[in-house]
Amino acid sequence: MKLKDRVALITGGSSGIGRAAAVAMAREGANIALTARRAERCEEAVAEIEGLGGQALALPGDVANAEHVAGLVDAAVERWGRLDIVVPNAGINGVFAPIEDITPEEWDQTHNINVRGTFLTVKYAIPHLRAAGGGSIVVVSSVNGNRIFSNFGFTSYSCSKAAQVTFAKMAAVELAQWDIRINVVCPGATKTSIGENTFPRNIDKIRIPREFPQGMIPLQQRAASAEEVANTILFLASDEASYITGTEMYVDGALSLFQG
Ligand SMILES: NC(=O)c1ccc[n+]([C@@H]2O[C@H](COP(=O)([O-])OP(=O)(O)OC[C@H]3O[C@@H](n4cnc5c(N)ncnc54)[C@H](OP(=O)(O)O)[C@@H]3O)[C@@H](O)[C@H]2O)c1
Repeated sequence: MKLKDRVALITGGSSGIGRAAAVAMAREGANIALTARRAERCEEAVAEIEGLGGQALALPGDVANAEHVAGLVDAAVERWGRLDIVVPNAGINGVFAPIEDITPEEWDQTHNINVRGTFLTVKYAIPHLRAAGGGSIVVVSSVNGNRIFSNFGFTSYSCSKAAQVTFAKMAAVELAQWDIRINVVCPGATKTSIGENTFPRNIDKIRIPREFPQGMIPLQQRAASAEEVANTILFLASDEASYITGTEMYVDGALSLFQG
């Protein structure tokens, strides 16, 4: 077991990539603290992990809320006495629209969840990672905003995903003195429930048509499974990645190289 008795905190751990990462880490022996806004899905994830013989706790709430995030970190440390791994993963696509049509409130919602949520999760975890003598943070960003800039309407989302990578690079330098590694996973198209938090509007007003000679994803011409992204998170969280920090890892079947 790669993560035996480690304590991992995963935001957005009730669904998609976060849930797959929670299950993958629990299978490797980690105790899991997770959050998401919908309580019943959090409980389903906890039940899945407990069904595998693992331990998990869920505290439903919003990652953009500082009190909630601080409370989640405290709950994990109170239950298991330490914190080793942090995965700021919770995110939404939000509104996909022409820049002139995005309202300031819509812009803020995407950034509050994707960027402020990442900041809060790392901020409140740091004292406990330091107390544990080090740790591993794996931020879930995207190909959008980092290698892909051609998805019309994705401006707010892409800026938030680029900000996560910059945040991780700043943090990698700052936190290295305490043996805290931080890396970024940049998935391409992945089969999850993110469509529920995706609101396209008026994109045809700005779209430039493109025709591809073949499928859009070079490697095996398919989307990733959430487990394939989770395996990369698991690798970065584990001691096998002991000298990797400040690095983003693309898990996209060369989609962004082809399409970017
Ligand atoms: N799927 C893809 O193709 C893809 C590609 C690149 C990157 N990503 C990134 O992968 C990450 C995970 O997304 P996913 O694809 O696995 O989507 P998902 O299935 O919708 O999972 C997103 C998770 O985040 C939670 N969440 C959303 N807003 C939240 C908030 N304000 N506070 C707390 N939890 C919140 C959701 O639960 P609630 O809605 O109940 O809060 C859910 O648990 C995101 O950061 C996304 O940008 C996804």
